[in-house]
Amino acid sequence: MKLQHKVAIITGAGQGIGLAMGERFSAEGAHVVVAEIDRDLVHSAAERISAAGTEALAYPIDVTDSDAVQRMIAEVVARYDKLDILVNNAGHSERVSFLEMTPTQWDFLQKVNQRAVFFAMQAAAKQMIAQMPDEVRAAGRAERSYGKIINLSSIAGRRGRADALHYSVSKAAVITMTQGAAMALAPYNINVNAICPSVVPTAMWDKLDREWGPQLGYPPGGFYKARVEKVPLKRAGTVHEIAAMATFLCSDDGDYITGQTYNVDGGSELN
Ligand SMILES: NC(=O)c1ccc[n+]([C@@H]2O[C@H](COP(=O)([O-])OP(=O)(O)OC[C@H]3O[C@@H](n4cnc5c(N)ncnc54)[C@H](O)[C@@H]3O)[C@@H](O)[C@H]2O)c1
Repeated sequence: MKLQHKVAIITGAGQGIGLAMGERFSAEGAHVVVAEIDRDLVHSAAERISAAGTEALAYPIDVTDSDAVQRMIAEVVARYDKLDILVNNAGHSERVSFLEMTPTQWDFLQKVNQRAVFFAMQAAAKQMIAQMPDEVRAAGRAERSYGKIINLSSIAGRRGRADALHYSVSKAAVITMTQGAAMALAPYNINVNAICPSVVPTAMWDKLDREWGPQLGYPPGGFYKARVEKVPLKRAGTVHEIAAMATFLCSDDGDYITGQTYNVDGGSELN
């Protein structure tokens, strides 16, 4: 039970990687808040996560609404007395060629994938700092971790992608935001780290395969398969492997790690 009595908000936990992290955190003893925009998924996911071990809370929300994120944190604290963990997992992906990209497509992805991440980190950090003992807050240093923040980036954030440059840029921003937030919050011993998956079969990849595969001449499932073939370990990652890294970083074992970005990607990137 690595996360016993912890309170964790996971954005986009209605399915895929977020749901797997929720189930794992719950099995490790954490109360999970499912912060999800899809009103059907939010409830079914909270039920599944509760069944994994510890009671979870369904919280329908659009995380791009920063006022709503602040209200959510206040309600979570009213219910559970504190907030220990924030996982910024909600995100969108799409492939659009460089020459066809529109300002609307660009702005939408930045809003969900990076702007929302910053303001959720800011709101969570304010709460984590407020709940520290007065003397620790005043000292500006702490002997143990007082909060964990994990941001989902992508190996697409490690280098520019010709056909999803807006996604690539948004995920690169997540890496630099992780570094900056880690330094800003180090005096309070709040740890901020990021994870970069490569190819993990979820609804996100179903959509990419469906929308982009035919344009590249692939049969259904072909684009996904071709992408998996490029992974040095020759297989896709699983949602559980991403959840395992998040669990490690959020547990006491990760207390001395901050500002880092981990590729969980079968060797796809080496930085
Ligand atoms: N699956 C992969 O191969 C892969 C690879 C690299 C990075 N990632 C990143 O991992 C994260 C999770 O990916 P996934 O594959 O599980 O995606 P997914 O599409 O399966 O799930 C994402 C969830 O986020 C929710 N969401 C989207 N916008 C939201 C909003 N504004 N407010 C609240 N919830 C919102 C969606 O409804 C969905 O349930 C994403 O940030 C993604 O970019 C995934």
